[in-house]
Amino acid sequence: MNINNARFEKGAVKPEQYPDNDIPEITFVGRSNVGKSSLINALLNRKNLAKVASKPGRTREINFYNVDDTVYFVDLPGYGYAKVSKEVKYAWSESIETYLNTSKKLKMIVMVVDIRHTPTDDDKMMNKWLVNSSLPYLVVATKMDKIPRSKLKERLLDISGTLKLDSNTPLVPFSAETKEGRETLMNYIVSVL
Ligand code: GTP
Ligand code: MG
Repeated sequence: MNINNARFEKGAVKPEQYPDNDIPEITFVGRSNVGKSSLINALLNRKNLAKVASKPGRTREINFYNVDDTVYFVDLPGYGYAKVSKEVKYAWSESIETYLNTSKKLKMIVMVVDIRHTPTDDDKMMNKWLVNSSLPYLVVATKMDKIPRSKLKERLLDISGTLKLDSNTPLVPFSAETKEGRETLMNYIVSVL
């Protein structure tokens, strides 16, 4: 995929605010601070298009990044962040659920986990939802630059075992720092468009 012009198009909370056209969507979900925005930047070869912060909970709206008018990369707010009020948490989970249940243009979901950590109950719930939705999805285990290569296999087994991934669901190790895994992930994305 050749990317010429990737740009932030809009942030949305409600369906009326989603882009009103037929451009397909690849959507990124995962826990807060796991590295979703960094992953999008790495895929688009941009340093700071999707906002990255050291503090979790940075992405609060559903952000639509328009890639050459052919696909949107959709950055969802992270789930499972404990340090926000109940009201905010509820509003986030509601906007994530509404999006996942209503978007008609969703082509694939990229679920992002941190390669260093065993997936949480929230991750398991997300994964179950994805299995039941029968949408194409894959799992990216990011921040692989933070573990020694000798631990890679063990970490991937822990993640696939905890989420009970079936053998057709790809699990792609990735690093936004080194861009390792970028090619593999891009190929999956291109294959569903
Ligand atoms: P929310 O928007 O809060 O849900 O977070 P997010 O999932 O979008 O995470 P974000 O991309 O903002 O990254 C969180 C932190 O992890 C930042 O400090 C990033 O620099 C760091 N980070 C993300 N990906 C990687 C990676 O592959 N390697 C390393 N070493 N750090 C990463
Ligand atoms: Mg983010």
